[in-house]
Amino acid sequence: MSDRVPFTFDGVSLEGRYGESLAAALMGAGYTDFRQTRTGHARSIFCGMGVCQDCLVNVDGKPNQRACMTKLEKSVSVESEIFGRPLPAVAEGQPFKLIDDVPEESPEVLVIGAGPGGLSAAIAARRSGARVVVADERPAPGGQYFKQVLVDGRDVAPPDRQHLEGRRLIETALKLGVEIRNNMDVWGAFGPNDLVATEAGFIRRFSPQRLVVATGAYERGVPVPGWTLPGVMTTGAAQTLWRSYRRLPGARILIAGNGPLNMQVASELKDGGAEIAGVVELAEMPLLKSISALSRMAAAAPRLVRDGLRYRSRLSDVPIVYGSAITRIAPSENGLTVQVSSYPDAGKTGTRTFEVDTVCLGYGFQPSNEILRALGCEHVFDSQRGQFVAVLDDKCRTSVENVYSLGDCTGLGGARVALSNGRIAGWAVAEDLGHAPPPSNELDQERRNLSRHQRFQAALWELYAAPRPKIDLASPDTIVCRCEEVTVSQIQDVLKSENPSIGDLKRATRAGMGSCQGRYCGPILSELVAASKGQPPDDSVRFAPRMPVKPVCIADIARIAKP
Ligand code: FES
Repeated sequence: MSDRVPFTFDGVSLEGRYGESLAAALMGAGYTDFRQTRTGHARSIFCGMGVCQDCLVNVDGKPNQRACMTKLEKSVSVESEIFGRPLPAVAEGQPFKLIDDVPEESPEVLVIGAGPGGLSAAIAARRSGARVVVADERPAPGGQYFKQVLVDGRDVAPPDRQHLEGRRLIETALKLGVEIRNNMDVWGAFGPNDLVATEAGFIRRFSPQRLVVATGAYERGVPVPGWTLPGVMTTGAAQTLWRSYRRLPGARILIAGNGPLNMQVASELKDGGAEIAGVVELAEMPLLKSISALSRMAAAAPRLVRDGLRYRSRLSDVPIVYGSAITRIAPSENGLTVQVSSYPDAGKTGTRTFEVDTVCLGYGFQPSNEILRALGCEHVFDSQRGQFVAVLDDKCRTSVENVYSLGDCTGLGGARVALSNGRIAGWAVAEDLGHAPPPSNELDQERRNLSRHQRFQAALWELYAAPRPKIDLASPDTIVCRCEEVTVSQIQDVLKSENPSIGDLKRATRAGMGSCQGRYCGPILSELVAASKGQPPDDSVRFAPRMPVKPVCIADIARIAKP
């Protein structure tokens, strides 16, 4: 089979690599504008992982398809999505069916998410004798951390150690007989044993005996003037373009935010041939006081420290701007003009300007906990990280019977913590189902691994400790709700009213009512409403979880399931 696939975009004939996403193919062909918003502004790839809905295109007449999640496997006709274009008739020519007509699948264990934690849980449960299905919305297993190279060709750089570790995990799961189902969006969680998904356009129903939620996390939105412009994307999106599709997000790139991922991605993109104009880091430069954190990290996970030092040494000729943030991004003749200032004390070290074609923003992560919340699993607010974390027992059981959860969807801990917790959860699920418990020495060893990686994470984030911007980098006309294009000043107007609720904010502005379902603006708005009431964030200031928890095409719901 040829590794090249022809396709058209707005009538222009193009060619992409077999297996890459449409977003990667379009970027490779030099296109950055994928769709037009209600106000006529261009949008492009932003999250790169199916969350933001900014990359929507029309594929062979089917509207609102995410270019970042749609694989190029055959010749297709792609058009930019224009807001308000009339939609085609729903499921034309197909008989409508009731949900009761869709047959139920009843694995002993359904794991949602094929990242490190989900795969590790599936392997542990399967080894103990359970029948396991893993449902994952991405085109291939591995999640964000273990995403695989999905394209072939002479010009494709080979996989690295992280890819290979992920590949071994995936192969182990498959060899053991774990059924991994990709392109499966679980959007309905009516109970632990009553779940509905869409698989490649067809409805699936699951009634598992036990549910393991390992849905990961997505990058935190930090509004700044210009953050919706094409050419501005999350660090994770840039990493996916390179690690999975071997496409560079741009030629001259500025990376900004907080945390070690930015440094890793800068190093990877530089190795791939991009010019890294700089890395802007919110945290202050590590000094002598960081030695204690570094030595605890080295004691807990020396290989990870060596990886970090390797990334840093590859960037020896790249300006690293500490204690700073991007304060403005504006279109320029050759791409983007980016202003960087010290943060939080603007002006402390002056302002720098960068001319680039791509900006990557990585300010840490928000847990993807929609399914857990829809099921009513208990959460508490972690004020340091600014996010809700799931309440779990020491075997990853949630507060809802038969629901287990682990990994970054429960609160952030990174891939190594997810791998350890995955094993612990998988063993617990199998044992609760009546299968053999793990040998106690293996469980003890895994608990020691877990605590070692938790110590590493705690020290790592000590090193990267920084104030957390909410909307203080934004100006009054900066968009906060990317989907509905609601600005800071519109939100502040509502917050001035007496005792505003999150519902008032939503009704008055439509913030959170767009196709990403408030995933980017919701956490910011919750904190703003809580602050206006002088209370810590709790469930009363969050958007209520609503079905479908993920955007789903009406035509897919209405159509009969594939036999
Ligand atoms: S870039 Fe495709 S959904 Fe965000």
